[in-house]
Amino acid sequence: MLHLLPDVSLLPYNTFGIDVPAEFFAAIHSLADIEELSAQKSSIKILGGGSNILLTGPVRGVVAHNMLQGIDTVREDETHVWVEAQAGVVWHDLVLYAIAKGLGGVENLALIPGTVGAAPIQNIGAYGVEVCEVIEQVSFWHLQDKALVHCSNQSCAFGYRDSVFKNGMKGAAFVTSVLIRLNKQPHFNTSYGAIEAELTRIGVQQLSVQAIAQAVMNIRRSKLPDPRVTGNAGSFFKNPTISAALYDELAAQHPGIPCFRLSDTHVKVPAAWLIEHCGWKGYRRGDAGVHSLQALVIVNYGTATGSELWQLSNEVVQSVLSKYGLLLEREVQVW
Ligand code: EPU
Repeated sequence: MLHLLPDVSLLPYNTFGIDVPAEFFAAIHSLADIEELSAQKSSIKILGGGSNILLTGPVRGVVAHNMLQGIDTVREDETHVWVEAQAGVVWHDLVLYAIAKGLGGVENLALIPGTVGAAPIQNIGAYGVEVCEVIEQVSFWHLQDKALVHCSNQSCAFGYRDSVFKNGMKGAAFVTSVLIRLNKQPHFNTSYGAIEAELTRIGVQQLSVQAIAQAVMNIRRSKLPDPRVTGNAGSFFKNPTISAALYDELAAQHPGIPCFRLSDTHVKVPAAWLIEHCGWKGYRRGDAGVHSLQALVIVNYGTATGSELWQLSNEVVQSVLSKYGLLLEREVQVW
């Protein structure tokens, strides 16, 4: 049974800790709920874990909070297990489900905040792995067509922190479930520098999905602020992708500028390095700041408003543009 509540504070529903009201709020517990809501209302904003949004003012229309629950193993063969998770499941709970069964594929994505439904939207990624590598299918309720759609991995058009759900389908897809394929004989990905070092530090001799997840969790906890303590939405910006030729020019002018090679022709430059070298790391104005351990993370120390955080992010963008000529794109969704 759908309940539409008027004038609800979104404070408990966003990890930046911004207190703005939604004109209407509906908790979605079933497919029937979202069907009913989309039949009644045309202006619907979809909220998952609220860990990748910046709220800059009161939200008009209905905020639909995805609460669909459940994780099921749906199929298996000799090498793989297919697991379907409902979109409102906390992402890390799905990782724990896989780890408990010793299944590989998502261990590098341990402790990423947010829900299963949000994972494909921005193709979450960390420590050398992106969720698109395990996704087989994303099911969603099409808010305009009012139909359940099953979207294959290929149709999701995944890219770096990108998918069809941020482009052509923006705002139209209420994700209901995600089908992932996990590996019974995991291929471990420890190529991301800090993982090897952490595995050594904690004395791991035999690689396992549990050990890698533990290393990833340790690294994340040491560098990224806990949103329950300090408001934040993880990386605020994307790492810019540029041509290798442009990178060579930049490296000549700014010795020490790091890069991740993507191909012979393109590299990704860590935005955190650019931001840090513009002097922002640890900067604080009022309650808005740039995290002191990871410059890619904008933080709310208490009562900063969405506009103050937005303004600070603009200043960061401007200074990186004027010093390095690179335009940072925001990773967070701005409402
Ligand atoms: N660096 C700095 N200053 C800093 C932090 C990092 O100069 O304050 C430089 C270092 O050279 C470091 C490099 O940036 O080697 C990369 O840093 P890090 O390993 O922390 O990763 P990142 O590129 O800053 C990305 C993701 C994170 C993910 C990490 C680990 C994006 C936008 N962010 O950050 O994802 O956890 O890699 O894989 O791609 C998120 O999306 O919310 C997120 C936290």
